[in-house]
Amino acid sequence: MTNHKSKKQLQLDDLHNLYQACTACPLGTMGRQRIVFGSGNPDAKLMLIGEAPGREEDEQGEPFVGRSGKLLTTALANAGIDRSEIFITNIVKCRPPNNRMPKPTETFTCKKLLLFNQISIIQPHIIVPVGACALKSFINIEQQKLKLSQLHGQPFQSNNILVVPFYHPAYILRNRSKMSDFLSDINNLKLLYQKSL
Ligand code: SF4
Ligand code: URA
Repeated sequence: MTNHKSKKQLQLDDLHNLYQACTACPLGTMGRQRIVFGSGNPDAKLMLIGEAPGREEDEQGEPFVGRSGKLLTTALANAGIDRSEIFITNIVKCRPPNNRMPKPTETFTCKKLLLFNQISIIQPHIIVPVGACALKSFINIEQQKLKLSQLHGQPFQSNNILVVPFYHPAYILRNRSKMSDFLSDINNLKLLYQKSL
């Protein structure tokens, strides 16, 4: 009878319930099994935001549980950051067909309905956009002719939140030579994260 859920958890549950059968953008009717809302600590100081759920995420309803998710989760754990203390989600909550990139109207709609509300409930101190697709929500990389290879690991402020761009772990799996950059970005993140607590 007593409810031990935090206020933020209840707000996140409400948001999740509201959109659990969402069809507000085309991805809602393109074969997704379920929306992958995101998971972790509702009081997280650190939020990781990927691109979109893949096959395993769509099956399990959890973000970053497939091959690239395992790389990310293990690398974070090795640096002393446990998944359960942070919040992990994606720009779009439904799996795009054949894992294609989400289209601008899909990212625009989904961010407005879900991600922006998740950020305002959780109020993280640090956001890590994982991969170029997620980074585009925080900085206009095309217009500024910037590349993730220049921006990864470099913190910048956006609306009073520290944003720390990361390479996508799927990219690291295809380009093993970038692994050391990826791991050093995670170690730098750990220092920023400890300072922000
Ligand atoms: Fe709704 Fe987002 Fe899924 Fe589109 S991707 S249907 S906006 S939950
Ligand atoms: N890649 C992403 O960007 N997000 C996931 O949840 C899984 C793989």
